[in-house]
Amino acid sequence: MDTMMFPEGFVWGAATSAYQIEGAVHEGGRGESIWDRFSHTPGKTRDGHTGDVACDHYHRYKEDVALMADLGLKAYRFSVAWPRILPGGRGAVNQQGLDFYRRLVDELLARGITPYATLYHWDLPVALEDAGGWPARATAEAFAEYAGVVAAALGDRVKHWITINEPWCVSFLSHQIGEHAPGRQDWPAAIAASHHALLAHGLGMQAIRAAAPGAQVSVALNFTAAVPASESPADRDAARHYDGHFNRWFLDPLAGHGYPADMLADYGEAGYMPDWGAIVQPGDLATIAAPADFFAFNYYTREVVAAGQRPWQYRAVRLDTPRTEMGWEIYPEGLYNILLRLHSHYRMRPIYITENGVSYLHPVSEDGHVHDQDRIEFLRLHLAACQRAIAAGVPLAGYFQWSLMDNFEWAHGYHQRFGIVHVDFDTQRRTPKDSFGWYREVIAR
Ligand code: FCB
Repeated sequence: MDTMMFPEGFVWGAATSAYQIEGAVHEGGRGESIWDRFSHTPGKTRDGHTGDVACDHYHRYKEDVALMADLGLKAYRFSVAWPRILPGGRGAVNQQGLDFYRRLVDELLARGITPYATLYHWDLPVALEDAGGWPARATAEAFAEYAGVVAAALGDRVKHWITINEPWCVSFLSHQIGEHAPGRQDWPAAIAASHHALLAHGLGMQAIRAAAPGAQVSVALNFTAAVPASESPADRDAARHYDGHFNRWFLDPLAGHGYPADMLADYGEAGYMPDWGAIVQPGDLATIAAPADFFAFNYYTREVVAAGQRPWQYRAVRLDTPRTEMGWEIYPEGLYNILLRLHSHYRMRPIYITENGVSYLHPVSEDGHVHDQDRIEFLRLHLAACQRAIAAGVPLAGYFQWSLMDNFEWAHGYHQRFGIVHVDFDTQRRTPKDSFGWYREVIAR
């Protein structure tokens, strides 16, 4: 990393999310979320793992912030659990929930670490799910109320806000594939959910700005680079569809281009569309496209895609290339390409990578350390891609490593470890991995 130059003031961060680390699900007046319900439903998570205890961060947040300070972190991205703030989804505010995040934020600020608060990282209160969840417009309106409550309470301390984490996961992964809560498999519901997640971002941004003047707000999209398996027109068309489904479906309306016409046609032909005319109401597209203060996205991997019978029946092709414990291909070039595209085509600025990282399962060795050279290599390659993009003129302003510590990795439970701090889930002992020391040096330099 010696020769790598990052601009002055570059934001070096790490990220986590509430349900993945907090535990204490029955404490502090917290209500139930769809992830409590889902993880307690047999067969939904590997080995029935739940976030009931997770990293017990709710009780150990001071120790965890001390680790961040030791790392030299400039910024920390965490998420606020909606069911801690509004246990019933709407209405009565639970002061204990707000107090927890105020204590956390004060601890960060005392250590000189800038808080980046995500308002929705997938833990929808069950009352809202039972009233229709994300396929229902009322959930977007409820989100704006919640966002306003949190911004009013913490806006004096928190200046950087992420509204919705990964609308693709909120909608398609959760309502069409069904791998995440609430575990539905329903295309029209998923497409309706995608619009409401974007609408929630727009309405939430208005609410945050009204409650906390001067707040900096963005959504956080997830991108998967789409690469055709060959140069054949059919494979290229499959990649076009894949890119449309994962990336452009969200990016285009946010950038003010509306929903992509090719995707409306594909989904329509496949019979996937909900009653779109009733769902997208007058003014929605303007609300979604209102200029944000920065642009945030998460990046992990690419997919190589080949044609099926129709574009929406594309096949993912598995090449014999290096993969991570998640089975995701290591593809830093995709990060570089996306950064250039965001800059030159979409004119986004400033840009933040709010998640990038890797799961490997190294245990604590006999010498008491965790030797995760492969994670160091992954991070080094992706930071090199960032550095090249910056050199090419991309206004990249920050990078948040995912994740500060091993945690509850959703449907994979505790069987995936993304942390640069190892967590022993029996004892809650934290052990910084070799990658922690490496990242500390990168930040310091
Ligand atoms: C992202 C999620 C994050 C974590 C990483 C591995 O999609 O935002 O919570 O699960 O993937």
